[in-house]
Amino acid sequence: MKCVDDFRLRLGKQELVPVMIGGMGVDISTATLALEAARLGGVGHISDAMVPTVTDRRFNTKYVKSKLARYKFNVENPDKSLVQFDLGLLEEATRLHVGNTMQRKEGGGLVFINCMEKLTMNAPKETLRVRMRAALDAGIDGITLAAGLHLGSFALIEDHPRFRDAKLGIIVSSLRALQLFLKKNGRSGRLPDYVVVEGPLAGGHLGFGMDWAQYDLASIFGEIRDWLRSEQLDIPLIPAGGIFTGSDATAFLEAGAGAVQVATRFTVSRECGLPEKVQQEYFKASEEDIEVNQLSPTGYPMRMIKSCPAIGDSIRPNCEAYGYLLDAKGSCSYIDAYHKAQQEAAPGAKRAPVWEKTCLCTHMRNFDCWTCGHYAYRLKDTSHRREDGSYQLLSAEHVFQDYQYSKDNKIALPPREVCLMVG
Ligand SMILES: Cc1cc2nc3c(=O)[nH]c(=O)nc-3n(C[C@H](O)[C@H](O)[C@H](O)COP(=O)(O)O)c2cc1C
Repeated sequence: MKCVDDFRLRLGKQELVPVMIGGMGVDISTATLALEAARLGGVGHISDAMVPTVTDRRFNTKYVKSKLARYKFNVENPDKSLVQFDLGLLEEATRLHVGNTMQRKEGGGLVFINCMEKLTMNAPKETLRVRMRAALDAGIDGITLAAGLHLGSFALIEDHPRFRDAKLGIIVSSLRALQLFLKKNGRSGRLPDYVVVEGPLAGGHLGFGMDWAQYDLASIFGEIRDWLRSEQLDIPLIPAGGIFTGSDATAFLEAGAGAVQVATRFTVSRECGLPEKVQQEYFKASEEDIEVNQLSPTGYPMRMIKSCPAIGDSIRPNCEAYGYLLDAKGSCSYIDAYHKAQQEAAPGAKRAPVWEKTCLCTHMRNFDCWTCGHYAYRLKDTSHRREDGSYQLLSAEHVFQDYQYSKDNKIALPPREVCLMVG
């Protein structure tokens, strides 16, 4: 019987353990987590979501404070069209985030950045261009284009000196999306180095409608694999979404996958950015506690743990400080939902909960939007329960190597924590 370690992902001259940890914004897939994947010979992702906020937290910069100070006068105004990112500062923050990560890299693996097109930032093209170019300048090994069709993304970096040497990939959820991407980006004379096929059981945003349950990863993967073969396109295909055990991964590798992309199992690792309190909620979640909803202002369905503080909150839109989801006209559907809830609230009500949308910037920033993959309810089977009812956190190395070596649908439990008795 084979295991993941019997396979290798080939990207150019590089041979890698075929396990890729997917990007988890905002700093849930931390640099430390991504670097562990690289150290162990696989691929890790940092995220380019809300990087100025992330660098403020990590390096004590003051990007958010200075943006808020500049636009404070507009806080009460529902029109956010004039709230813009300073592209120079965005570049600086991205270089800091990526540069610091790459300086710490050890081992034979790679660190990529997950770049979401839906982070439109009130100037979609300009900000995406700056984010991608700054990441390349700062030495990122590769860019995974996510959350969008990215029909013009290669064009934004095709004159960059690293356009051909950095690894570039795209996440798609259908053959049609991949065909469109290849057609529109074909002009650059460069194919993607890998394609991630994300099915409907993934965490984060889904590339499906609310009929997501009618789709399945294995079928979409098979369809894209067969089409690539028929076109004689030799591009590693990397399935993602609901691959929970080493055996799940091995089945895809045997069916022709180049690697697998996984995320949910790492949300309960010590290297992940979620606070431990939230990680315990992930452990405890049952299948009924998880839903796919339409609360994200991006318009994509998103999977969440129902009890998370992001649902039904009443926070004022925070676009002057953040504003990552403002579209090209400076609108975000949370702003509309917020004002509607205010108008409909009973006179004198202390708060007006917003049920239609969530302020994703604020809640992702504060780890209050608990997005997860469909199988998050199985996380409790991956660790030991402590006497107080909480679960033991895992090391990223343990989870990575469980994917790498496990067989027979088994999940290796970590060594039990040693309790030190004091007194
Ligand atoms: C907490 C969390 C946050 C995520 N955030 C992002 C993101 O910012 N961008 C993205 O492209 N995918 C995101 N994803 C999707 C993962 O990168 C990955 O493709 C998917 O979750 C894999 O399925 P699995 O979680 O069942 O292993 C996220 C997933 C999780 C669990």
